[in-house]
Amino acid sequence: MKIELRHYDVLGSTNETAAEAAASGGREGLVIVASRQTGGHGRMDRVWSSPAGGLWFTILLRPRVEPRHVAELTLLAGVAAARALRILYESDDIRIKWPNDILLGAKKVAGILSEMRLTERGDIDYAIIGAGVNVSLPDDALTGELREKAASLNDSFGTNLSTDEVLRAILAEFIPLYESWQDRGAEVILPEWRALSCTLGNMVAVLDDDRVIYEGLAVSIDGSGRLAVRASDGSERRFDFGEISIRPKGEAGETDS
Ligand code: BTN
Repeated sequence: MKIELRHYDVLGSTNETAAEAAASGGREGLVIVASRQTGGHGRMDRVWSSPAGGLWFTILLRPRVEPRHVAELTLLAGVAAARALRILYESDDIRIKWPNDILLGAKKVAGILSEMRLTERGDIDYAIIGAGVNVSLPDDALTGELREKAASLNDSFGTNLSTDEVLRAILAEFIPLYESWQDRGAEVILPEWRALSCTLGNMVAVLDDDRVIYEGLAVSIDGSGRLAVRASDGSERRFDFGEISIRPKGEAGETDS
């Protein structure tokens, strides 16, 4: 895959610009980067604060796989980002929280939002993978609730890496992984996703609109990225992409993330 980088000072959302480019025939490998976004969005229709200092980018893909496999791309992007950040920041404390939040300890340092469009025939027209990485956010960007939940990588590690270095490192992991996934499928992602996960083996609460709808032990993730949670009565449910909070070990009632 050939990468074409397009860098902007300000955009509404790199995902939106990438989707527009895709709709007008943009090629696989186009990467839209913005120094800041005025309308960045996260999963669950949340606002994604995107001031200068963070890495905000979206990659356009035209995967040659059946649509039922496209959810694997989100896991793939999580693995690539976690790998790159672990290498760059020389840290094993960077892990993946299902489905694809990248955490440092209990705090979120990156998030991924993937979207896809099908053709009228039902094939994949394009997929876009947007990633926000808190490389070096200004102090006033992490206030209130966000301060509890999120962190900046450079501040946490006392480093001064540029957003460009982080982007290059993530793409260097993403591209070969994407190519082998197209040839060989989810087997090239899932074992590593599981190894990098801070979710499996923990008690979790599954949330819908911030409301707890199920609780139990996160036991496994299947080939489509669905999380299996086993409740205390032994019953098990699988969840598609959603939201969980992980119970701190030893404290049944409180949530940490
Ligand atoms: C999440 O909720 O964790 C996903 C956050 C994804 C944010 C990135 S920033 C670049 C791209 N453009 C957007 O509007 N969102 C994604």
